[in-house]
This record gives sequence, C-alpha cells and structure tokens, in this order.
Amino acid sequence: MQRSFTSSRAAAVDASGIRKVFDLAAKMKDPINLSIGLPDFDVPDIAKEAATAAIRRGDNRYTQTQGIAPLRERLRKELSTEMGRDVGEVLITSGVSGGLFLAMLACIDPGDEVIYLDPYFVMYKHLLSMTGGVAKPIDSYLSFEFPAEKVAAAVTPKTKMLILNSPANPTGAVLSEKDVRDAVAIAKKHDLLIVSDEIYEPFLYDRGTTTAAAVYSPAELYANTLVLRGFSKSHAMTGWRLGYAAGPAEVVAQMTKLQQYTYVCAPSAFQHAAVAAMDLSMTEAVAAYERKRDMAYDLLRRKFEVEKPGGAFYIFPKAPANTTATEFCTRAIEKNVLMIPGSVFSARDTHFRISYATSDDKLAAGCEVLCSLV
Ligand SMILES: Cc1ncc(COP(=O)(O)O)c(C=O)c1O
Repeated sequence: MQRSFTSSRAAAVDASGIRKVFDLAAKMKDPINLSIGLPDFDVPDIAKEAATAAIRRGDNRYTQTQGIAPLRERLRKELSTEMGRDVGEVLITSGVSGGLFLAMLACIDPGDEVIYLDPYFVMYKHLLSMTGGVAKPIDSYLSFEFPAEKVAAAVTPKTKMLILNSPANPTGAVLSEKDVRDAVAIAKKHDLLIVSDEIYEPFLYDRGTTTAAAVYSPAELYANTLVLRGFSKSHAMTGWRLGYAAGPAEVVAQMTKLQQYTYVCAPSAFQHAAVAAMDLSMTEAVAAYERKRDMAYDLLRRKFEVEKPGGAFYIFPKAPANTTATEFCTRAIEKNVLMIPGSVFSARDTHFRISYATSDDKLAAGCEVLCSLV
C-alpha cells in the first residue's frame, strides 16, 4: 500500500462544506453572490498610499515579532481608553486568523475543553481539532442570545476557554450588556480565559440602543480576556493579513514566541498602512451597511423567520419548514443565487447565511428570488 505522507491532524480537518459552495460558485456565470464574507468597498486610499510609501521607503524587512512600535503603542492606548483599564500586551498578528491560531497553540493542551456558541465561525472547531482541544459548542438557536444557563452547565474541570464572537459570524447577533456580564460571571467563577473575537466590532448598528461601547467587550470587565481584532473587515484589507491580539501578558508572551517560529511577523508595509488607517473614520461605510441590513431584513421577513442582526454584515434566516437549509441553498443556486447553508457553521441544517455586503441591486434581486422560492 502506498505510504501516506499527511498527518492525522490534517485528515481530521473537514472543510468539505464550504468547499462545496466555492466549487459551485466557480461553475456559475455571474451569480448573485450573497456568500462572501468581506466588505464590498476597497481599501481606503490613505491606507493604500501609506502601504506604497512604506514599500518605497524600504520598510520591506522583517519587523519585530510583536509588530512595529507605533502601531502596537497606539492600539494599546486606544483599546485601554475604550476598556477603561490597561488591556495588557499587544501583538500584531497575520489577521485575526493568525491571532486565533496562536491563541490556541499557546493555551490549549490536548483534552482542554473550549466552549463557544453554535452557530459559530468555522475556524474555531478546526483550530481546536489541530491543537487537540475539545470543542463544546452550545446551541444558541433561535434567538442567538447568550444561553447563560446552558453555558454554565457545560463547564467541567477541563474547561479552559470561552470563545465569544460579537458581532457574530454567521448570525450578525450582538451580545447585550447582560449577555457579556453573564459570560464574564461564568468565566470568573471557573477561572476561564475569554477569547473575544471582535473582528466585526466597527460594524455595530443601532448604537442608540446599545449602551456605551465599553460594556460591549468582556475585556472591560475581566482582565483574563484576550481581545482579537483586525483590519480585514473594518478597512477591507482581507488580503493584507493584519490583525492584533491584546490581553494578559502571560498569554501574549507565549503567542509572540510561537509567532516567531510560525508567521515570524505580520506583513511589514501593511503594518505601517494600518497606522495611517487608524486615522480614518469608517462611519460612512458602517452607516451604508446598517441600511443594507435594514433592507435585507425587511425584504426577507416577508417570507422567512429571521432575527434582526445587530452587527457584522450577515443575516441568518430560517429555511422553509419542509426543507433543509442545504436543499434550500441548492434550489437558490439553480436560480443563480449563492449563499451558505447553516450546516457549514452549525450542528443544525435549518438556517442559511446571507452576506449583504453587496450592491443594493444584487441584494434586492437575491432576496426577491429567495422569497419566490418559498
Ligand atoms: C468571526 C471571524 N473571526 C475571524 C475571521 C478571520 O479574519 P482575518 O483572518 O481576515 O482577520 C473572520 C473572517 O471571516 C471571521 O468571520
């Protein structure tokens, strides 16, 4: 028999769900693509110019593993002001994905249990499988609010980490102040590390009804919080691979050591561009997405059971009762509309994810097709 050179670790990662969607997309001609998890605007010019200037200036070498000082210092200062306390050490990472991977490598021993809500961002379970952690997804249907009792009941002596993601992918749900307080109470009681994936933090709507931004992050209430944020979604820099981690010195120091032997550093020119990007206000882009959120919600609620999302750029309606989400997405694809079935993000196959980060025309046309299928 021919020898396999690949590891059981690699074999354990099953990415077939999302791959199927991409394979289908590749075969479609000019689809109404509501599957894409990235902004539909381009990187702001100021950031492009700063990146080009950095390259011309010769900022093309390795940076310090932890990232360039001007960016780290500014992030630490701004985050500390927001959280009302010193947020701890800051590490510049290769996207939030890089931060998540290093956090798992730094913190998870085989057998350690990690709690997060289902539906979830797909990477969590795969990173846990790579690092030997035990995933404990907690069902949060149908409201997608933080199910404090269920989470508390799932904690065992082996539980080490609670991952929170707000605003969330794929639901767009935002944790309320009470949710965050409940989560922090559980973490404090059982001495858990909270990893707070806040990549969609700028895309937070209805700010009038949300109390101060400071309570929105568990980092304000709990020092054992590792905050992960980045520039991919906020500034449309998905290909520039730039994120950051801020939190307990012990954790960030181990992540930094591991970065030294994996990613080495985040891309240098883009770190300089990020400093420039921090001067920009993205409120217009966020307002545009809030309007698209309203549009998608109003069009879809005519025919679907759907929660109004409070952030990110996703909406997660329930498929019609007599069909699975996968079947419903297949029918939509036949009508040239591409979206992702909930089974990619969940143990359930009942809902589907729409990204409304697209033109108003495409969004309206896509929603009309979906409604016509009910
Ligand atoms: C919830 C969540 N976290 C992290 C990421 C990773 O983003 P990046 O690595 O581009 O910063 C994504 C990307 O889709 C996401 O949706």
